[in-house]
Amino acid sequence: MSKSYRVAILGATGAVGTELLELLESRNFPIANLKLLASERSAGKTLKFKGENILVEPVTEQAFENVDIVLASAGGGTSKTWAGVAVAKGAVVIDNSSAFRMHPEVPLVVPEVNPQAAASHKGIIANPNCTTILMTLAVWPLHKIKPVKRIVAATYQSASGAGAKAMEEVKTQTRDILQGKQPVAEVLPYPLAFNLFPHNSPLTDLGYCEEELKMVNETRKIFGSQEIRITATCVRVPVLRAHSEAINLEFETPFNPDEARAILSQAPGVKLVEDWQANHFPMPIEASGRDEVLVGRIRQDISHHCGLELWLCGDQIRKGAALNAVQIAELLIEKNLLQSTTA
Ligand SMILES: NC(=O)c1ccc[n+]([C@@H]2O[C@H](COP(=O)([O-])OP(=O)(O)OC[C@H]3O[C@@H](n4cnc5c(N)ncnc54)[C@H](OP(=O)(O)O)[C@@H]3O)[C@@H](O)[C@H]2O)c1
Repeated sequence: MSKSYRVAILGATGAVGTELLELLESRNFPIANLKLLASERSAGKTLKFKGENILVEPVTEQAFENVDIVLASAGGGTSKTWAGVAVAKGAVVIDNSSAFRMHPEVPLVVPEVNPQAAASHKGIIANPNCTTILMTLAVWPLHKIKPVKRIVAATYQSASGAGAKAMEEVKTQTRDILQGKQPVAEVLPYPLAFNLFPHNSPLTDLGYCEEELKMVNETRKIFGSQEIRITATCVRVPVLRAHSEAINLEFETPFNPDEARAILSQAPGVKLVEDWQANHFPMPIEASGRDEVLVGRIRQDISHHCGLELWLCGDQIRKGAALNAVQIAELLIEKNLLQSTTA
């Protein structure tokens, strides 16, 4: 009989947590027992899993007893508080927050890119930032053929990237504006409906916001290359779900767009979407709810003979967070890097 595992979702009521629940069910993840954890605010709520109502519990130390895998998506502060507790009780934590991503002893894993990194875990594995995951899926297959020297990224990030409440806020703002009312911004710093603004993560001394530096530092860690030069401009746009990215790549030698197209059409986790006649390329609305990152508009950079331009859209709640985390859990099981409970 195949093994099954005791799983806890920390942050089960959130945007990523809800998606984790759906993925564990739709991918038929081998679950012996499922715990749903959130804050005190959610105490008493129930969530459906495989037709059953499961009670959401406020997170406590005892909640991590008899748990093999914790899928954490409750913010960096919550992960910092509870990941160590869960590991001490014998669980492996796959963390969606930024709390441990750049820790030298914590692998930062995109299963299609650097699955081997997972083997060195000491209890915590970090899921990269969503924009980084989406970008690495498209760039890694090209980088493997010809090393990329420099990446220039511009992102168009949806409201849901800031959580379930931000998604609701942009819907309310849209209704309010259409009814002639003033939009109210409480979750995001400014009204996002019919607007856009540079990413709302804190600004650093470099003038970059944290989200932009995550793309720089996390990509280098995942690719295992500190030499790649990367710069990014991250922007929040009034899209409900799925992030988009314009990516400019500079290689050592010219990269034929047709060759790049052929490589990306075979790349794991990538779907090529290019209909030049119809001017149909990846769109967030078509990426929403999908596992693959949609990539298209691959073209020669006319300003640089070794440059390539591409455009991508990906569901950042799914592949940018929940799906990547579940794939890491599946990888740990496949490679026997977890303790099993029930035979
Ligand atoms: N949204 C994305 O696209 C995305 C992508 C990649 C990574 N992430 C990361 O994933 C994490 C969750 O993001 P999200 O978008 O799902 O946020 P969200 O919709 O705001 O959900 C946050 C979840 O965390 C729980 N939580 C908050 N404070 C807590 C506490 N003190 N103790 C226990 N639980 C607590 C919330 O529970 P209550 O409902 O009880 O408040 C809720 O379940 C964040 O670290 C985020 O950076 C998000």
